[in-house]
Amino acid sequence: MTGLSPEQAAVAARYRTFAAEEVHGVSPSYERLTLEIAESCEILDFLLGFPSARRQPNLLLAASRVVAGHVPDLDQLIELIRDPARRLRTLMLSRTTQTNEPSRCAVLLPVLAGLPPPLALIEVGASGGLCLLPDRYGYDYGTRRIAGARGSPTFRCSVQGPAPLPAGAPQIVWRAGLDLSPIDIGSAADTAWLEALVWPEQEHRRRHLLQAIAVARAEPPRVVRGDLLHDLDTLIAEAPSDATLVVFHSAALAYVTPRAARLRFAEALRRTRATWISNEAPGVFPDIVAQAPTPTPSSRFLLAVDGVPKAWTGPHGQSLEWFA
Ligand SMILES: C[S@@+](CC[C@H](N)C(=O)[O-])C[C@H]1O[C@@H](n2cnc3c(N)ncnc32)[C@H](O)[C@@H]1O
Repeated sequence: MTGLSPEQAAVAARYRTFAAEEVHGVSPSYERLTLEIAESCEILDFLLGFPSARRQPNLLLAASRVVAGHVPDLDQLIELIRDPARRLRTLMLSRTTQTNEPSRCAVLLPVLAGLPPPLALIEVGASGGLCLLPDRYGYDYGTRRIAGARGSPTFRCSVQGPAPLPAGAPQIVWRAGLDLSPIDIGSAADTAWLEALVWPEQEHRRRHLLQAIAVARAEPPRVVRGDLLHDLDTLIAEAPSDATLVVFHSAALAYVTPRAARLRFAEALRRTRATWISNEAPGVFPDIVAQAPTPTPSSRFLLAVDGVPKAWTGPHGQSLEWFA
């Protein structure tokens, strides 16, 4: 498209990249809509009214779904941005792209189950705390199945390599989460937001999320508001001293910048009695990735225990390639 200002062109490029590199082959409806957005001066100008971090495709798409009640087409999206009540704008300013993906428990479980029981769990960057409930879900690792409670989701995870697949869930006697902005699993508005962040065609993720929310509502995990860089010690002090303490995080440390702050977090954690489990994109801890086998596969997280790499994992817990 010609005639765009440099600012409009930059936002348009962001939406085209999202279409080509993130949703292509995964969400045809989002691919179509984001390519159309990149051609619409009116929507590009609407996005330019936000700080750069809030021009994200995922934020606009999820917020427009919540306001419209479905994935809007381009004309409906333009109606939403013209709405004098400015509901779309208000939602985009009040929310962040804060997913909670309980199926990541499938890649954490083999590590958790290998630690001396009972366990005390702390998740930093816990969102709604759905990953704090690995003992309440079911798992299907192909060669091994672990039954969950009635009505709980069963997460499928393909496994390669000598992963220490457990026979059952670990005993967890205490658990707590820490998040800058906790999602309240009991709130319909908060869980509707989590649901809207799942891309439209990912029906199995949506089903699993709703099942996990139902499990969590029966006995909600405690998630405390706080910053993992400053408030972890208080939670650690609360954990029972006769349980194996585990501090873990998944898709959370990428939000902690600069890199020096992540390193400070890791160094501080190493000085505690906790076992540290990290499940993050490779760029988050390059020093740990440097110890993993090469080449680094694309679209994978790295699972590490106490800074030692163990496996490549699917970002949504869908695969575990154990190399340790
Ligand atoms: C993408 S979500 C992942 C949630 C969950 N770990 C999972 O795997 O489903 C990242 C979470 O990290 C939280 N977060 C980011 N920076 C944080 C910080 N400095 N301290 C605490 N939480 C933080 C965000 O609020 C968000 O809920």
